Amino acid sequence: MIFLKTDEEIELLRESNRILGMTLAELAKMIAPGVTTLQLDKRAYEFIKDHGGEPGFLNYDGYPNSICTSVNEQVVHGIPSDKVVLKEGDIVSIDGGVYKNGFHADSAYTFCVGEVAPEVLALLRTTKEALYKGIDEAVAGHRIGDIGYAIQSYCEERGYSVVREMVGHGIGRDMHEAPEVPNYGRRGNGIVLKSGMTLAIEPMINMGRRHLYFEDDGWTTRTLDRKPSAHYELSVAVRKGKADILSTFEYIEEVLKHSENSKV
Ligand code: MF3
Ligand code: CO
Repeated sequence: MIFLKTDEEIELLRESNRILGMTLAELAKMIAPGVTTLQLDKRAYEFIKDHGGEPGFLNYDGYPNSICTSVNEQVVHGIPSDKVVLKEGDIVSIDGGVYKNGFHADSAYTFCVGEVAPEVLALLRTTKEALYKGIDEAVAGHRIGDIGYAIQSYCEERGYSVVREMVGHGIGRDMHEAPEVPNYGRRGNGIVLKSGMTLAIEPMINMGRRHLYFEDDGWTTRTLDRKPSAHYELSVAVRKGKADILSTFEYIEEVLKHSENSKV
């Protein structure tokens, strides 16, 4: 069942997403060689709590932390650890969730650690651009397959591959609501989008082949060929004419302007 949100509910989603955007920006300030992914997780927990939210991921389906931190060939759902030390040239995807006033925010950004190789930066840029191509299709009257088609064609034309095993999703009072939002598809396929649907769009794009390996910790996924993977996610509300983006990268990108890490 797809829940259409009222304007008031959409404003509550925007508030949860604002806190999440600020949280990811706070983590962006910390990203540097020598930092562990567990340090990032601890800061996320504190920051979200200090801003009146709850970490939406913590204990979700038994997930043990407040964020997912996926380094290099890890695709998504990497578990923060004091054993994972970021090093020069790495990329780290941070996926976070904030629950506040009954509504979930979900957003992710792939960051650079120090100076990153140009071909990896190109993967990150393409993945982020593909997310916005998908968002351009999230308008009333279009279909869910139009979003996937836009993302897939943009990435495959540039030689990258699209992860199939995991997809975007509806979001609201639950973190994962109907419908599924695949990052692949055909134009004109799938359900018709309606104003008031709220979707988390989240391309997971691989430099090499699309196939995944699921680690035996029960969460972490990585590319089978161990080539890098990128992940960007924004939650949006479907509207007539133009999607309303509820999450924000603005706080993150303000921090990155002043950062020594490579910029996407
Ligand atoms: N953004 C992730 C997703 O949509 C949520 C992480 S799942 C969790 O799948 F269990 F870690 F919360
Ligand atoms: Co998500």
